[in-house]
Amino acid sequence: MKKKLVSALLSATMVASLLAGCGNNASNSAPASEAAPASEAAPASEAAPASEAAPASEAAPEANAAAGDMTIGIAMPTKSLERWNRDGSYLEEQFKSRGYNVELTYSDNKIDQQVKDIEGLIADNVNLLVIAAIDGESLSQVLAEAKESGIPVVSYDRLIMNTDAVSYYVSFDNYTVGTLQGQYVIDQLDLDNAGDKTYNIEFTAGDPADNNAGFFFNGAYDTLKPYIDAGTLVIPSGQSTFDQVATKQWDTATAMTRMQNILASNYSDGTQLDVALCSNDSTALGVTQAIESDYAGTNTVIITGQDGDEANLANVVDGKQSMTVYKAVANEAVATLDLADAILKGETPDAGLIDSAGWSFDCAYDTESYNNGTGIIPSYLLVPTVVTTENLQKELVDTGYYTMGDDGYPHPVQ
Ligand code: BGC
Repeated sequence: MKKKLVSALLSATMVASLLAGCGNNASNSAPASEAAPASEAAPASEAAPASEAAPASEAAPEANAAAGDMTIGIAMPTKSLERWNRDGSYLEEQFKSRGYNVELTYSDNKIDQQVKDIEGLIADNVNLLVIAAIDGESLSQVLAEAKESGIPVVSYDRLIMNTDAVSYYVSFDNYTVGTLQGQYVIDQLDLDNAGDKTYNIEFTAGDPADNNAGFFFNGAYDTLKPYIDAGTLVIPSGQSTFDQVATKQWDTATAMTRMQNILASNYSDGTQLDVALCSNDSTALGVTQAIESDYAGTNTVIITGQDGDEANLANVVDGKQSMTVYKAVANEAVATLDLADAILKGETPDAGLIDSAGWSFDCAYDTESYNNGTGIIPSYLLVPTVVTTENLQKELVDTGYYTMGDDGYPHPVQ
């Protein structure tokens, strides 16, 4: 793990851009707050002026002189789930800022469409693929074609399963996302001092086709299991396995309908719902709507989420959603760029990339957790953050990811 100053990163990036002579101009380089917002603001006294070049050992990797002749194919799942719009924009901006050409596709959450889109990118002779899969199990064939064409593949955010064409995985620590949600519930309800009190909880998880979804659910469930086993937490619906609580395509309306059914079957007699543990914001939105329309109780239900989607942050401000786990996708894009850059320069990146890149955010190199069925995929895992009304300004607005609107709600800058 390594933390560096944003200013050092920026100055190094600027020096590298000049060396590369790739025609980068000011309009291509993101402002400090957008490029790689520091996860923790550095104290003023530590911050090096932006004009000072970083010492060689701290400098970002030297830019790829051939970048201008290279194209990165980026395949995102859908525009309908908010975060992927941000991922696509940040990735495009990052790669362009270092001189690469970019082809960016969105596949409307349709598996066949994504296969076609990736085939198109291969036909266009892209030099590297960055893919966030719709269905992690459905890309083996098309990625065999990529491998045959010698195109390296970076699995972005979601692990692509059952193919040996994937070289690396860049994501957040997905299990930790779930543990943060579980721990939030423990803290809010003070479960360690609950005595004889019991609380009712319902779980909503993500898409079974998304390898991340199981990690999120397991992280939350494992964290809460001791309290479920002890009877302090009760699941009135009895739906406690991933398959029972999963939400196809992370769809808001699907999550809403399922929660409406649960409320009708288990809570219409006045039973109190204390917690709706939702794996992410798109599902939390549906669950919140169901609770607003169909829950008879008057207590504030603890509702968890993930991503910092705009509507969910408004709900956090309004007290309708309790927290969201924020993952700085701007930093995920920076990590992906430096990884791809190293691969395209013929290097074999490992833990050393974290030091040499001089990232301003924490990242772990993991060679144990993510087996895609063909073996372990070396992974760069960034660190997620809990966001509530208490730290929303500090974590999201002061870092430059969002602006606070005149309406009192945060709005994403990308
Ligand atoms: C991502 C989450 C996101 C979900 C739905 C997952 O793969 O890691 O951040 O909420 O997909 O878009």
